[in-house]
Order: sequence, then C-alpha cells, then structure tokens
Amino acid sequence: MAKNSSADKLRTRLVEAALGTMKNAYAPYSGFKVGAALLTSSGAIFTGCNVENASYGLTNCAERTAIFSAAAFLGPKMKIRALAIVNSRSIPFSPCGACRQVIYEFGPKATVFFPGTDGWQAMPIEELLPEGFRLK
Ligand code: THU
Repeated sequence: MAKNSSADKLRTRLVEAALGTMKNAYAPYSGFKVGAALLTSSGAIFTGCNVENASYGLTNCAERTAIFSAAAFLGPKMKIRALAIVNSRSIPFSPCGACRQVIYEFGPKATVFFPGTDGWQAMPIEELLPEGFRLK
C-alpha cells in the first residue's frame, strides 16, 4: 500500500480548505470558480477565492485573495510555506503569472500544489517562476 507522506497530508489539508472557500467565488463572467489555501511558516492556514469584476481587469485571483488576507492578518513578515489551488471544473491548471510573482514575494521557497494532467503536482515556486523579480 502506498504510504501517505507528510506532503500528501499537507496537500489534502490545503485542498480541503481551498474547496471550502471556492464555494464563495464571485465568478459571474467566466463561470470558473477557483479556491486557494496557503500554509504560513507560523502554521496558520489562510484561504481565498477569485473575485471578478464587470471591468474584467480588476479581477482578483484566488491565490492573491488568500495571500493578501494572510498579510493583512499576520503582517508583513508573513511567509508562505505551501499553497494549493482547486477549480470548479476539475481541470488541470496552475497559478497565473501574476500570482506566481506574488507567491514568490512571500514564499520564495514555497511548494505549490496544483492539479496537473497526471494528477496532483507539487512544484517549488522557483521552478514555476524562474528568476522571479526581487527588490531587496
Ligand atoms: N483565476 C484564478 O483565480 N487563479 C488563477 O491562477 C488563474 C485564474 C481566475 C481569474 C478569473 O476569475 C477566472 O479564474 C478565469 O480566468
């Protein structure tokens, strides 16, 4: 029997949290609901969903909703250890480019869990965003 590794357990925990918050997504334009959940270095979990706008470009992705909520609650030293995303169509997807940069800002060593074509993928943000932008 395959062993349930600590990475699997963490992913399961984050995916469950992300699925819960995905229900609150405001996606009347795309119909594509997304949920995200992150684990901070202090052991806290924060979640987010996408929030769209009639002026499409103002849409906030689920990942950034979760990250901004964590930063607002825990302060600027907040660090992301891991983040998982889910969508309502159960299709393979990974964080958009803008969200990769925001994940990198708060978690340059973070692991990102996303549904790939061959099941769940776990990838370091450094691999999803090589040479991410830094200003310090
Ligand atoms: N979306 C996310 O929430 N996260 C992503 O990483 C990709 C896209 C949302 C934005 C928009 O509300 C919908 O998915 C369709 O693009």
